[in-house]
Amino acid sequence: MALSQTQKQMSQLEFEQFRDLIYQESRIALRPHKKMLVMNRLAKRLRELNMDSYGDYYKYVVSTKGRQEELARMVDAITTNTTQFFREGKQFEFLDGHVWPHLLDLKLGSAAVRIWSSACSTGEEPYTIGISALEAQRRSPGRPVSILASDISDSALRTAREGIYPEDKVSGIPVVLLHKYFLKGAGRVKVKPELQRLIEFDKINLNDPFQRQLKGFDIVFCRNVIIYFDRQTQEELMMKYYEVLRPGGYLFLGHSETLHGMATDFEFIMASVYQKPTRR
Ligand SMILES: C[S@@+](CC[C@H](N)C(=O)[O-])C[C@H]1O[C@@H](n2cnc3c(N)ncnc32)[C@H](O)[C@@H]1O
Repeated sequence: MALSQTQKQMSQLEFEQFRDLIYQESRIALRPHKKMLVMNRLAKRLRELNMDSYGDYYKYVVSTKGRQEELARMVDAITTNTTQFFREGKQFEFLDGHVWPHLLDLKLGSAAVRIWSSACSTGEEPYTIGISALEAQRRSPGRPVSILASDISDSALRTAREGIYPEDKVSGIPVVLLHKYFLKGAGRVKVKPELQRLIEFDKINLNDPFQRQLKGFDIVFCRNVIIYFDRQTQEELMMKYYEVLRPGGYLFLGHSETLHGMATDFEFIMASVYQKPTRR
C-alpha cells in the first residue's frame, strides 16, 4: 500500500541526485535550501505513479523507460510557470512608443518582423506581444509580425496553444482589448484566431544548442527565466541570443534580471531592455 504523502521523505542524497539531474536537463540551478520545493513539486508525480518513495521515483526517472516517458514530466513539475498578461507594462509602453513605429515601417521592406518569446510559459506573454503588435498595426498599417513562442514545459505549451483562460487570468487586460481579441465563454475566454495565427508554438530547451532556423529575430523576450540559471549558463545564453538577433534587435529580460557585469556587446536601453548594436 502507498505510504501517505506526509510520510514520504527525501534524503539529502536523493535531493542532490534530483538537483544534478534537473541541472543536466534544464540548467535550472536549485540551491541547497530548495529541498522542500523539490519534494512538494515532485509529490504529485509520485502520487500519479503510485510510488512509495522519492528513491524509487529517481531510479525510475533515470531508467531507459523513465528517460523516455518521465524525464520531461519531472522537469515540467519543477519549472515555475507564473506569468500574466501585460506583465511589466513599461516594456509594452516602450514597444508602443519606440519599437513598433520603427520596426513596422514598410520602408524596411515587406518581410515579417520576427519576435521570439523564448520562455513563453502558458502563453500570456506571446499573446500580449501579439495584441500590442496588432494594435500598433491598426494605428499605422505596416509590416506583418510573426511570433515564435517556446518553452521547455509540455504542459505550459499545451495551455498556450489552446489559448483558453479562466476569466480571473485576463482581469489585467483593458476591457476594449479583451473584447477585440478574446471570445467569451462560461467563466472562460478564448483567444481569437486573428491573434492566435500570429504565433507558432514549439518546445525549445534554451540550454540546447540553438537550431539553424533560430535566426534573424528583431526582438527576443527572455523574461523571468534566467533567474533560475547560474551565471555561466546566463552568459552562454546571452551570447546565443546575440547571435540570433539582427543588428539593432532588442532583448527584453524580466524586471529583476540584468546583463550588468556580464561580458556581452549588448547596449543598455532601459531597465531590462537591451539592444544589439547596429554596427560593430
Ligand atoms: C516564470 S515563467 C516566465 C514566463 C514569461 N516569460 C513571463 O515573464 O511572464 C519561466 C518559464 O521558463 C521556462 N523554462 C525554465 N527553464 C527553461 C529552459 N531551460 N528552456 C526553456 N524554458 C525554460 C519554464 O518552463 C517557465 O514556463
